[in-house]
Amino acid sequence: MLVSAAEMLKKAKAGHYAVGQFNINNLEWTKAVLQAAQENNSPVILGVSEGAGKYMCGYTTIVGMVNGMLKELNITVPVALHLDHGSYEHCYKCIEAGFSSIMFDGSHYPIEENVAKTKELVAAAHAKGISIEAEVGSIGGEEDGVVGMGECADPKECKEVADLGVDFLAAGIGNIHGKYPANWKGLSFETLDAIQQLTGDMPLVLHGGTGIPDEMITKAIGLGVAKINVNTECQLVFAEATRKYVESGKDLEGKGFDPRKFLAPGVEAIKAKVKEKMEIFGSINKA
Ligand code: 13P
Repeated sequence: MLVSAAEMLKKAKAGHYAVGQFNINNLEWTKAVLQAAQENNSPVILGVSEGAGKYMCGYTTIVGMVNGMLKELNITVPVALHLDHGSYEHCYKCIEAGFSSIMFDGSHYPIEENVAKTKELVAAAHAKGISIEAEVGSIGGEEDGVVGMGECADPKECKEVADLGVDFLAAGIGNIHGKYPANWKGLSFETLDAIQQLTGDMPLVLHGGTGIPDEMITKAIGLGVAKINVNTECQLVFAEATRKYVESGKDLEGKGFDPRKFLAPGVEAIKAKVKEKMEIFGSINKA
């Protein structure tokens, strides 16, 4: 059964480790992440962006697939199904569809509007036992070939949003989605420290987990980060393993064209990457 992410992240924050949110793209991805979590006895959060939601034929399809896998694969570790960077409308769609967690990304609204919409969604999510993440400050990333550096969150605004009753809070601290550019200045631990001072027990979320050096991850966990999102890194290892399979001519040998064989190296690569991240995050055997 899917669970809200509130409890697992409270435990993570108190225990000084972080739970990984791994974004899913299809059946193979989902299976790889769930198996890695079960094999390593770790809680896990499956992240679904709106784009991935559309690609996988909508939220109800995803809920059906994930619930089916939990049962058929005998997954007993805590698993949350979470909408990543949801708009106001899509948060409601996921609440209806049976997600166990949502993120409302109101960071592009003026703070007053972000606050009003977050408040309303907190009530709607909690009425169904669903956890909710909010975002303050923007997380950078590549758009049309230009890498935006994002904008560090204002700790006072973080406190204001945390007080609305959200279960965990994403704050921009110089983190970026996708690969980090060579001139990246690193995470702003000063900002993170100030946010944690004001928000206390609130589990903090670090987006853009791909490419952040391990020692920065460890330092961020020490300053209150309890959830780390990883997407691009799994895509990169999946693509690399699949490319190797084709380049070595394996798809031309025997039944190597069978998708169950063709996609297997990519699935194994995702599993290995997820395990590696769980080790760094400290979530192994924390189920
Ligand atoms: P990366 O793709 O950089 O790992 O970021 C993932 C993320 O933050 C999803 O919200």
